[in-house]
Parts: sequence; structure tokens; C-alpha cells
Amino acid sequence: MMRAFFISISKLAWAQKAITHWKLAWRVSSRFIAGETAADAVEAVRKLNAVGILATVDHLGEHSHTPADADLAVNNILIILEEIQKAGLQANVSIKLSQFGLALDPDLAYANLVRVLMKGRECNNFVSVDMEDSGLLPATLSLIYRVWEQGFDNLGAVIQSYLYRSEVDLGQLLERGIAVRLVKGAYQEKPDVAYRRRKEVDANFDRLADVLIQGAIKRGKRSVSKDGRFPPLTAIASHDLKRVRFAALTAKQQGLPKSALEFQMLYGIRRALQWDLAAQGYPVRVYIPYGTHWYPYFMRRLAERPANVRFFLSSLLQQ
Ligand code: FDA
Repeated sequence: MMRAFFISISKLAWAQKAITHWKLAWRVSSRFIAGETAADAVEAVRKLNAVGILATVDHLGEHSHTPADADLAVNNILIILEEIQKAGLQANVSIKLSQFGLALDPDLAYANLVRVLMKGRECNNFVSVDMEDSGLLPATLSLIYRVWEQGFDNLGAVIQSYLYRSEVDLGQLLERGIAVRLVKGAYQEKPDVAYRRRKEVDANFDRLADVLIQGAIKRGKRSVSKDGRFPPLTAIASHDLKRVRFAALTAKQQGLPKSALEFQMLYGIRRALQWDLAAQGYPVRVYIPYGTHWYPYFMRRLAERPANVRFFLSSLLQQ
């Protein structure tokens, strides 16, 4: 109920306008967001790299309404790729295809994705394509396959365990050798496409983690790259200790080395677990969002956890 509420207001333009102009909302959301500029993101990456944690940087933004907006989004990503290269950081980038104009015109999004992948190649870097709501999923996967077939192998995809179709999609990604980030899923989906109950989403997460680990073993147990930019085939992106432990144990039992099992978490969430896994020898990558378009991302983080809403409301009362 609360989740549905926050996800639905994440899409309302008037709510976005009201909340983003509100200093208090920025103060609370800055727990999850590195800052508004590329320099803020670079600084956050530096701090994590200094303690042995890798990063993936996300220039916040989704649903570009015009080709010019999409172009601006692409330019921001080209800039951050350049900054990562200049600073020699152990970081790659995460993007959303709706930023690149996917809903306006798939060919425009394709051309924009190619620009970013070319820049990625030039900077020896990797681009992770986030997965958005299920309405965009077929077009997202088809663009990923299209660029893959053109020889761009510096990109990865995301699989959401709340969707019924994910096991089939995962099989097709593994067949091609495309790196996968496994998540539970952050959008509001209808019962005809997604599991509703937490227990079912979790059970499917473990099932998919198992398939992903077996797939990584079959494809040669590729490790994270030495410069920390290219992830292994398997990335488990969850803050749920049970999911993390299941994946670690399954990998150990099946013989996938630690260097080939990456754990990913969001900036500002479960730092102690990030440190603990890194100390155990796993690659750990933190997803670092930055930029001025933080509202929908922040609303999804509120939707995930009642405690975040309580924190937000209590900060409001202390005003
Ligand atoms: P779950 O929600 O069950 O949380 C487990 C525990 O983690 C909670 O009990 C709490 O302690 C902590 N926690 C989780 N969320 C928190 C929050 N917001 N604030 C504070 N504590 C929190 N989704 C998607 O649909 N497409 C995508 O491309 C991505 N990409 C992505 C990248 C990375 C690196 C991560 C970690 C996650 C995503 N996600 C995503 C989001 C994902 O789908 C999911 O919504 C969140 O990770 C929360 O789910 P958990 O697996 O953490 O479990």
C-alpha cells in the first residue's frame, strides 16, 4: 500500500516540482544521493575506492520528453566517463534507456546508447543498463541485444526477480555471455506480470541467483577486471542478508571463486555489510546516484522501507 503510494507519486510532475524545491527533502534524500554535480560523484567514488569498494555511477534522470533532453542526458554520461578515466577511478556507469529517449523513439535511444558505448570503449569502461518498469522491458532487452550483436561487449543488463518472465530472460542473457545484475525490482507492477508477495520475490531471487552462478561457471568463471570497472558475469544487488548469504553459499558449493561473484548495494544503504563483504574478499560495488533529477529515485527508496518514511516525517516535524 505504502509502496504503491510512493511509486505512484514518483511519477507526478506537480509533486516532483513541490518536493524538489523543498530544502528539507534534499537534506533527507542526500543520504542516498552523492550530490548534484559530477565532482560530488567523483569525490564519493574516491572515498569508496580508498577502502577497497568499487562503484557504478548513475547520472540521475529518466523519461526524457524530447530528443534535446535525451541528448543532454547522454552528454552528462559522456562527461562522467571522462572524469572517471581522468581520475583513474575503479568505477563504471549505470544508465536508464528512458533517459536516452527509448519511449520517444527506439532508434534515437539506440543511437544514444551507441554514443555512450563508444565513449566507454575509448575510456576502457563498462555501461550497466538499469531495468525500468515492465512496459519498457522488451524494448530495453531488444536494444541490449542489438548493440551486443554489433560487437559492443562493454555493457550489462539487469534482471528483476519480481517478474515471472525473468528466468527466460536470464537464460537468453547468459547464452550470449552478457553480465547480469540481479535485483528484486523497484517499480509497481500488476499481478499478471509480477509476484506480489515478498516471499515469492525472495524465492525467485534465490532461484535466479542459482541459475546465474551456474551460468557463470559454464562460461568460465570470469572475475571482476583488475581495474575494477568490468564486473564479473554475476552481480547480486541486494541489501537482504538472506539473499547475500544464499548467493555466497551457493557460489562456494558450486566452485565459483569470490572474485567472480560481485555484490552490489546502493549508496547510503547497509554500509557495514558492504565493508564486511569487501573484507571477506568479494568485489563490492556501490551504486552512486548524483544530479539534480533525484526525486523519482528518492521516492523509490522511500517506498522500499517504512523506516525511511518515518525518518523523513520526523525530520519534517523537527523543522
Ligand atoms: P529488501 O527491500 O527486502 O531490503 C532488505 C533490507 O535492506 C531491508 O530490510 C533494509 O535493511 C535494507 N534496505 C533495503 N532498501 C532500503 C532503503 N531504501 N533504505 C534503507 N534500507 C534499505 N531495481 C530495478 O527495478 N531496476 C534496477 O536497475 C535496479 N538497480 C539496482 C542496482 C543496485 C546496485 C541495487 C542494490 C538495487 C537496484 N535496484 C534496481 C533496486 C532493487 O530492485 C530493490 O528495490 C532494492 O535493492 C531493495 O531491495 P533489497 O534486495 O535490498 O531487499
